Amino acid sequence: MILSIESSCDDSSLALTRIADCKLLFHTKLSQDSHHSHFGGVVPEIASRLHAENLPLLLSRLIDFLRTLSPNAPFAPLKAIAVTNRPGLSVTLSEGMCMANALALSLDLPLLCLNHLKGHIYSLFIDTPHAHIGEGLGVLLVSGGHTQILHMRDYEHITLVAQSLDDSFGESFDKVAKMLGLGYPGGPIVESYATGYSGALLPMPIPLLHDKRLAYSFSGLKNAVRLEIAKMQAHDNTHQEAQPTLREETKHRICASFQEAACTHILHKLRIYFQQHSVQFTHFGVVGGASANTLLRTRIESLCQEFGKTLMLAPLEFCSDNAAMIGRLACEAYMRKEFSPLNDTISPKSLPQDFENGL
Ligand code: KG4
Ligand code: ZN
Repeated sequence: MILSIESSCDDSSLALTRIADCKLLFHTKLSQDSHHSHFGGVVPEIASRLHAENLPLLLSRLIDFLRTLSPNAPFAPLKAIAVTNRPGLSVTLSEGMCMANALALSLDLPLLCLNHLKGHIYSLFIDTPHAHIGEGLGVLLVSGGHTQILHMRDYEHITLVAQSLDDSFGESFDKVAKMLGLGYPGGPIVESYATGYSGALLPMPIPLLHDKRLAYSFSGLKNAVRLEIAKMQAHDNTHQEAQPTLREETKHRICASFQEAACTHILHKLRIYFQQHSVQFTHFGVVGGASANTLLRTRIESLCQEFGKTLMLAPLEFCSDNAAMIGRLACEAYMRKEFSPLNDTISPKSLPQDFENGL
């Protein structure tokens, strides 16, 4: 089996995956949301310190599990150590790397250094021995760090079709929540504020609407929200309060209007991808932390129905960062003997060889 480690942002996670049938045997995770909530975003220094505290705790849980399988030699079933080494925050990736190197060296096991984004794609195949992608798989990856359309022919051939020119989809939810003082992570909070609102929406610009490029952009939308907040503060505070506040109703309205525009933008460009590349894929997957968004899922479901594509979604618990997806990806890398040297470096970005360019 493979022991996998994930620490690319603010989730510490370990997993055990059986190589023969890619079955997930054990998964454990500690999130840091409450520690970053006050700052409205991940503070890398805090995240790195918490990984240093949490990863050993998770490892001791995992060893307890291994003891139930093999009491006298708990590490004997391990065949490799897998770790996310790119892309992500350097100071948090290095915490996972340290543990991976120490385990690989002391147990004399091969090391697999893996791409986190490919891991998200393989969240679709956790617990399944074969990555069923029909005649090609289109993927929307929506996380805190990335918004990408990817095209997968097989493990070796994954093409980057489109990506955000600036902020990511998830990040824009985080920033809107921060502007409204709602905490972190913004995605679930903004979504729940939006869900409770049924009144008229505020006008929001749809990014790159008249731009032919297959690309995303969320910074303009974020600024539009900032301007609306300023306008609504003036409106809600008729008595010139020193600390302008917003009525609860206004916050719901802003969240609903923003979410609608952000999802419309995703769908507008996805529709172009479906129209232009329909013959190249039969299946379509949505992965990453923000793929938990219900409005986004519902709209993509309709788009897939319209174009006759099979929609694939990861179980909700494996949408956000986790080591189970890294373990699933690791099974593929292990079977191809794609072992990494112990001194392999971490990288804040994907490597040029990770994805092919353009369809
Ligand atoms: O994949 P993930 O766990 O971490 C990264 O690799 O970045 O994604 C986390 C991101 C955060 O920006 C969070 O606000 C967003 O996913 N997110 C959501 C929702 N749930 C999480 N965004 C929109 N709607 C949601 N329901
Ligand atoms: Zn992620």
